[in-house]
Amino acid sequence: MRNLFAKDSKKNDEENLNLDRLPKHIAMIMDGNGRWAKKRGLPRTAGHKAGVEALREVIRTCSELGIGYLTLYAFSTENWKRPVDEVSALMKLLVYYLRKEVKELHKNNVKIRTIGDISKLPQNSLKEINSAVDLTKNNTGLVVNIALNYGGRNEILNGVKGICQKVKNNEINIEQIDEDYFEEFLDTKGVPDPDLVIRPSGELRISNFLLWQIAYSEFWFSNIFWPDFNRESLIEAIMDYQKRDRRFGGIK
Ligand code: FPP
Repeated sequence: MRNLFAKDSKKNDEENLNLDRLPKHIAMIMDGNGRWAKKRGLPRTAGHKAGVEALREVIRTCSELGIGYLTLYAFSTENWKRPVDEVSALMKLLVYYLRKEVKELHKNNVKIRTIGDISKLPQNSLKEINSAVDLTKNNTGLVVNIALNYGGRNEILNGVKGICQKVKNNEINIEQIDEDYFEEFLDTKGVPDPDLVIRPSGELRISNFLLWQIAYSEFWFSNIFWPDFNRESLIEAIMDYQKRDRRFGGIK
């Protein structure tokens, strides 16, 4: 009875979702895998594996709802500081995930892209990523941007260097540099800024994620660890987002 009630109330939640006011772009910091595992006396890598299961459900839900873009913080420029074994397990997990899921993602019209400097990833990870990006490049559904060896500061610095080169080559004048022009030099070129940034696990920080792009994003934090994040958590975050009054610095 208790379960039935819980199920019904969740169904009601979904029915209250305003499908005309969905975020176009959701950015996700998949945090808390290690603590999820520790709580269960498991190795950290078990937490990452469980995190992949959560990811599957989140991608499916975003795709079903008709969300345009989902950006996933999978591996940051700072994550190289982790023990070699953990870095290697994360890279293997990425390969395993792509091998196992890419056909299904393709069937569901999902387009896979990456942001970050993927050239520094191990060869087999790179090969798997490139083939997933290539296979899905003409798809028109949900765009899944996987942030790999990504750091917001690094992305901005690369943009600055790209523009300096153009100035040096006399291809542009400094006066021509505006926000739109600068965005052409970011990894997220052509992608709208995230409307909603989600970070589970109880941490209240941005950790070098999409620093330029989040200028007017809405944030949703939760105490649950990423492996426990599911369809209901996502719906809850979106419903909360739908209550926000976004003024972008203006007034109503
Ligand atoms: C943060 O949790 C999580 C990561 C650094 C990795 C996220 C990666 C995955 C969910 C799987 C691989 C990704 C793809 C796209 C297949 P943490 O380890 O920092 O957790 P903690 O803060 O509890 O230690």
